[in-house]
Amino acid sequence: MAERRSERRARKGAPDWAEPLGLRQPLSQRAGDALRDGDDAVSRALEAALRHRERVERVTHGFHTYPAGLHPDAAAALLALAPGPVLDPFCGGGTVLVEAMLAGREALGTDVSPVATLVARARTALTTEAERTALRSAARKAADVARTEGLAAERAYATGSLRRPELPEVLFDWYEPHVLVEMNALRREIKNDPLLKAIFSSIVVKTSLRESDTSNRRSEEKRPAGTTATLFHKRAREYARQLEALAAAVPAGLSVRVHRQDAREQREKDHFGLALSSPPYPGVYDYVPLQQLRMAWLGLDQGDAPREEIGSRRSFRADRAEAVARWRADTAKWVRVTARALVPGGRLVVVTGDGNVGGKPIDSLSPLTDAAVAAGMRRVARATVERWDEGLDRVRPEHAVCFERSGA
Ligand SMILES: C[S@@+](CC[C@H](N)C(=O)[O-])C[C@H]1O[C@@H](n2cnc3c(N)ncnc32)[C@H](O)[C@@H]1O
Repeated sequence: MAERRSERRARKGAPDWAEPLGLRQPLSQRAGDALRDGDDAVSRALEAALRHRERVERVTHGFHTYPAGLHPDAAAALLALAPGPVLDPFCGGGTVLVEAMLAGREALGTDVSPVATLVARARTALTTEAERTALRSAARKAADVARTEGLAAERAYATGSLRRPELPEVLFDWYEPHVLVEMNALRREIKNDPLLKAIFSSIVVKTSLRESDTSNRRSEEKRPAGTTATLFHKRAREYARQLEALAAAVPAGLSVRVHRQDAREQREKDHFGLALSSPPYPGVYDYVPLQQLRMAWLGLDQGDAPREEIGSRRSFRADRAEAVARWRADTAKWVRVTARALVPGGRLVVVTGDGNVGGKPIDSLSPLTDAAVAAGMRRVARATVERWDEGLDRVRPEHAVCFERSGA
């Protein structure tokens, strides 16, 4: 009989706090021991932020999965560490931006991934009732067309007369034939509307034969014809409700911007009161390639993103020593430009984790601290917690750190 996960953890010597809770945020597993230093109140707030784990669905947070998302409650608590406009240079799916909006704060998020900017814009979209009605209606029409085409495709497949749609080759490996037709119809019907595209993007993995957003393993789950269109329509209705909640909770006229930009090239100076971010952990994910199916369906241009992505897992596989050196240099660059973007006395708060490549740990805290000090900041406080990494079967530390730009 297959060994159960809990048994495997016990055999590998996992501490009992490592029991997984079945949630999808990376900060969602119970943390072990904590190490804190610096300002007492700030380090306690940092530790508390690392320990949030309940699933949060308020406003648009529940819309669209995004790998390694910050916990919304952690983002909300960390925002309180400094006033003023907020910058998230690695904004991913936009968790920090949504929480900044709820706190009535101006915000800017940047990311190199076109999927991240699509999702972050969709999660922060401020809409009117008329726009939401139009969105629901367009989604229903697209779903109706797609359902009809999906059912016809299933019948044609059974008789061997299904025509192959013209689509990027990679998609044929990952979808059942009638699902491919149904998805293709949805994609065609939603045209270029960015919010409908984000809804479509939210079902790309679920309807595929891929196990999850962060795994390339195949699942053999079958989807009856018509259910893809129904899922799309259901997501659209849920999303419209989430947008309504967001619009009701956010002060009118609030400015939130999302730019596709490399964090090492931040251009604004002396503007933000707080930079709050969770950059890639060294050697843990390949964010851009993970989004291959979404980019193929939506025809998104990845541009220089594969080259610009920092800390990627693939870079650490090639030459570890060189990758560590590059990681330090990249950290120094983004921290320097982010420090410049802060007002004097502004704060940089970072949630990060150590990497582990080939069984060897990669420290993320000292490159970050060295970079911040070199950029004219002092470390106000930090908290480090131990976390059990399910993939690696070992403890991997996670850190929340607060720095302050001098000259308040
Ligand atoms: C840990 S995720 C951020 C998750 C985000 N905090 C959230 O809650 O959704 C890291 C992000 O950094 C982005 N990234 C990697 N290299 C980058 C770079 N050089 N500039 C900007 N973004 C980058 C990745 O595309 C990914 O979206």
